[in-house]
Amino acid sequence: MLHAVIMAGGSGTRFWPKSRRNRPKQLLRLVGDSTMIQQTLSRVAPIIPPERCWVITGEDQAEATREQLPGLPADQIVGEPCPRDTAACVGLAAALVERRDPGATTIVLPADHVIQPTEAFLASARAAAAIVEADPTAFVTFGIAPNRPETGYGYIERGELLSHPEGIPQYRVERFREKPDRATAEQFLATGRFFWNGGIFVWKARAILEALQRHRPALAGAIDRVSKTLGTPEFPGAIEREYATMEKVPIDKAVMEHAENVRVLEVPFSWNDVGDWRALTALVPPDDRGNAVQGPVLTVESSNCIIVADEGKLVAALGVDDLVIVQSGNATLVARKDQLDRLKAMVEGLESAG
Ligand code: GDD
Ligand code: MG
Repeated sequence: MLHAVIMAGGSGTRFWPKSRRNRPKQLLRLVGDSTMIQQTLSRVAPIIPPERCWVITGEDQAEATREQLPGLPADQIVGEPCPRDTAACVGLAAALVERRDPGATTIVLPADHVIQPTEAFLASARAAAAIVEADPTAFVTFGIAPNRPETGYGYIERGELLSHPEGIPQYRVERFREKPDRATAEQFLATGRFFWNGGIFVWKARAILEALQRHRPALAGAIDRVSKTLGTPEFPGAIEREYATMEKVPIDKAVMEHAENVRVLEVPFSWNDVGDWRALTALVPPDDRGNAVQGPVLTVESSNCIIVADEGKLVAALGVDDLVIVQSGNATLVARKDQLDRLKAMVEGLESAG
């Protein structure tokens, strides 16, 4: 059976002031009528029923997440006492799935990406699941055609072309490299053989647990001790205790860079990981002066701005260019677009200042 695991531990500082400590990106309505995590779940709904969907999130976000996903059994939304990055999250989810449904396949999904069209995503998910059913040791990744030497993504070098499940090219992976430096990313791009890693993985829960055991035995041991207590009164104490000392490492570094039987699908959908406010330009049709706006916004002789306002709170921009203006609740951000990389640091400064 195919299970979905949604990784939802994001801190959300890049979407301040809409996102706050208890309202990270995946719980926001950034595009469309539902929140990012609701969209993620609806996307898999045609092939995976709620009984087989799991969400791993921060303990302090678990309640808000349950409210947004009332169709999911409450015990399948699991709160982590502190963020330990994705190796812990993936390992915990795999252990839970494997105990519930031994031999199950899982599709691991970030909670906050925009993917279109859904049918192309579903075809990719079906193709990946079929690959893993045929070879239970395979790890399937979703490759996105790169268009710039981005250093915030993983890179996947394709090898031999193996087949076309669902008409989608499947390649053997020669090498997986998480977040290379700029010069390396440029070299990768120049070869024409690399994809970006879309952050979605399909594998047997048992296979990823075995890989963690091999590459990160201490982390795998901690996960094993926690998962044994699920559904018992010992669970909160066990997860608290084990997470306190667990290694903080992404699955990409912990396993994917070392794994042997990795495949990549050249996926046929458009993908946006909605990194910060600038992503709105690609997601909201801009006006004829390149402004992407949401909510009650008036622009006069202004261009290439991103402007967001709460319902009932008008924002008017007069004669300004290349600004990001976001009004939300009791706070307003005004920033130069090219300064947005510094937003996270600014928000963390605000938080520590109380
Ligand atoms: N539960 C939980 N706990 N979830 C987490 C944690 C955690 O400690 N840390 C991160 N997540 C969730 C995030 O909310 C997001 O949905 C997903 O896991 C991926 O984490 P990111 O922190 O956003 O990873 P990244 O963007 O730096 O890199 C990954 O995604 C890229 C594509 O967007 C990697 O897989 C890259 O290789 C990939 O290119
Ligand atoms: Mg990300």
